[in-house]
Amino acid sequence: MGRILVTGAAGQIGSELVPALRERYGADRVVASDLRMLPAGSPAAEGPFEVVDCVHVSEIEAAVQRHEIDAIYHLAALLSAVAEEQPRVAWNVNMGGLYRVLEVARQHGCAVFLPSSIGAFGPTTPREATPQDTLQRPTTIYGITKVSAELLCDYYHQRFGLDTRGIRLPGLISHVAKPGGGTTDWAVEIFYQAIRYAHYTCFLRADCCLDMMYMPDAIRAMIELMEADPDRLIHRNAFNLSAMHFTPERLAQEIRRHVPDFAIDYDVDPVRQAIADSWPASVDDSAAREEWGWQPRYDIASTTRDMLERLREKLRPAR
Ligand code: NAD
Ligand code: SER
Repeated sequence: MGRILVTGAAGQIGSELVPALRERYGADRVVASDLRMLPAGSPAAEGPFEVVDCVHVSEIEAAVQRHEIDAIYHLAALLSAVAEEQPRVAWNVNMGGLYRVLEVARQHGCAVFLPSSIGAFGPTTPREATPQDTLQRPTTIYGITKVSAELLCDYYHQRFGLDTRGIRLPGLISHVAKPGGGTTDWAVEIFYQAIRYAHYTCFLRADCCLDMMYMPDAIRAMIELMEADPDRLIHRNAFNLSAMHFTPERLAQEIRRHVPDFAIDYDVDPVRQAIADSWPASVDDSAAREEWGWQPRYDIASTTRDMLERLREKLRPAR
């Protein structure tokens, strides 16, 4: 892997992807970028940084030229819930940003990684063990941009030979940066609230099952896919990826093993519940396993244990 640019690096994924890439390839070979500055003191802030608004092609191109970039991890996007509040902005950033990144990549010979999402599926998709290749008729603007993005990346590979790769991520659980306005944010908030108040009010229904993944697995998947032998990749830009799936009630039960008095109640947000109801409860990731050896390491028990340990440390009052 040569020199890497990460867009949207201040977000939930970028805050952990940038340090992981720097550890693997060298700090000076990974350039973080975002609209906003990285939080001072965060691990991702230790290394090269550029302000890049990905809807401006000149800003992407300047960063690629200045740092002689070979690969772009394009993370900048609006997540499902905020996208639904601002559909026009979501289209502009999620599609306009990707198009400009792909054009710069085409002109400068960069590889491109793009995270798609379980949001790329819709209510007519089979909801259990969702197949790799299936019906995709999403009903959210987020999902529409994600399917279009998968297709656009396929197109740039087939038409221009660009090395584009991507995965469909489930909801991500992490303890470094907070999530940026998605439908699965509850599965992070619940841990903060369990430690602070032993109580959480969930915005999804108790029995709403969704696919989830712990951030270390997601980061490893992104790096492994970009390092995979291209000759083995059939589904380049939209690999289903799975690690675990659970409902809020099931996660609350797991948290209670560590916080015995933990209580959960529900105040369902109809908008986010409707989004969740249109997504798969579990996906079949056998293509990722066969084509590049994907294997998750964290399940609900190990994720819960690690999240609580790390958040207790993070939220401990300074002495
Ligand atoms: P996030 O909301 O935490 O971070 C997105 C970052 O993009 C923010 O730091 C924001 O400042 C930046 N950004 C927004 N508009 C920009 C622009 N015009 N130019 C440059 N930067 C801009 O998101 P995340 O959770 O880190 O997600 C990253 C990617 O992964 C997105 O494409 C998202 O759809 C995908 N994804 C995330 C999850 C998840 O659970 N976090 C699941 C599936 C897919
Ligand atoms: N976690 C993301 C969201 O809820 C899924 O892509 O938007």
